[in-house]
Amino acid sequence: FKTAREQFIADQQKKHSSQQGQSTGVSVTIKKSLGANRSRGASSKFVSPLPRQEEEESGKTSNSNQEFQILNKQLKNFEPKIIELIMSEIMDHGPPVAWDDIAGLEFAKTTIKEIVVWPMLRPDIFTGLRGPPKGILLFGPPGTGKTLIGKCIACQSGATFFSISASSLTSKWVGEGEKMVRALFAIARCHQPAVIFIDEIDSLLSQRTDGEHDSSRRIKTEFLVQLDGAATAAEDRVLVVGATNRPQEIDEAARRRLAKRLYIPLPEAAARLQIVTNLMAQEKNQLREQELYSVVTATQGFSGADMTQLCREAALGPIRSIQLGDITTITAEQVRPILYSDFQEALNTVRSSVSSKDLELYEEWNKTFGSGR
Ligand SMILES: Nc1ncnc2c1ncn2[C@@H]1O[C@H](COP(=O)(O)OP(=O)(O)OP(=O)(O)O)[C@@H](O)[C@H]1O
Ligand SMILES: [Mg+2]
Repeated sequence: FKTAREQFIADQQKKHSSQQGQSTGVSVTIKKSLGANRSRGASSKFVSPLPRQEEEESGKTSNSNQEFQILNKQLKNFEPKIIELIMSEIMDHGPPVAWDDIAGLEFAKTTIKEIVVWPMLRPDIFTGLRGPPKGILLFGPPGTGKTLIGKCIACQSGATFFSISASSLTSKWVGEGEKMVRALFAIARCHQPAVIFIDEIDSLLSQRTDGEHDSSRRIKTEFLVQLDGAATAAEDRVLVVGATNRPQEIDEAARRRLAKRLYIPLPEAAARLQIVTNLMAQEKNQLREQELYSVVTATQGFSGADMTQLCREAALGPIRSIQLGDITTITAEQVRPILYSDFQEALNTVRSSVSSKDLELYEEWNKTFGSGR
């Protein structure tokens, strides 16, 4: 049984959380006023129910007031300073990243769409056993697009997106860190559906050792508790996505809670071709198809970031060929297009940044703990 007031609050909350996903403007207003509103929070507790009734009705016209009340109620145990810190981590959608901007990684992309995007669109179908997992771990060698996937989820899922780094949680005030973690999850629950993206999660959830600092241990423990809470509350739509290039360092308890562990490998030949083609499409170039294939075969073992670096280096070729005296006078049109020889030159200086020994480690870990095929 729900009272009309409870129902009303629940409805309002739903409405606001869905609005949150689309507009970044709203979050900014909240951020500004949360602190100010909080100061009145303690005394407003004792106001008689009658004026509250009026407030609710006026709330339909000025939604924001109502929203603060709801937020206040659920977040009243947290200091405004902490809430403000967390709110500032809500990612403003920088340059949009589309799924097609990520070359290759088909398996990871479809899995993420299955887990993140569809359940957000049709929460009514994805219930019970079909309920999406509450934790994903993206792991793989550096520069293969893990952070890129995080940004893509932020743009494409329509969820409130929190991007948290270890440094913002390990704050300079001792004892603040675990409060931050608790506040983060509480705020995420207020803004459902929500995605919490933790880049370089290994630095936050490395294995607990005896010698480590007390405060970092408490942060880890709090994180595990919150992750577990998020995993067991079936109706909460809060997804935690972690990314790391050191999966073997992650605490085993955290590993269990990030149930879906996706290997993000080095790009295959087709993906490398797509990266080069995408980047070259933006520049003046005279590369024949055959030459593109030669570049792709020569870059076996390169990561996506290495490929980008190679293209940048090659793109500098035409500039380097300009006579030193001409650089001040030459017009942009007179710069010659990028040629295959520029790539040959660039291949002499750009090397793959992932060793085959490292690669074996990732594959081994993937075999043991990964969710891929
Ligand atoms: N699959 C890909 N498709 C297109 N571009 C890619 C891909 N992988 C990497 N890149 C390029 O490499 C850059 C770095 O990728 P990203 O930051 O996502 O790597 P990462 O996996 O997070 O690495 P790290 O583990 O070091 O954090 C991207 O900005 C992008 O330009
Ligand atoms: Mg990264």
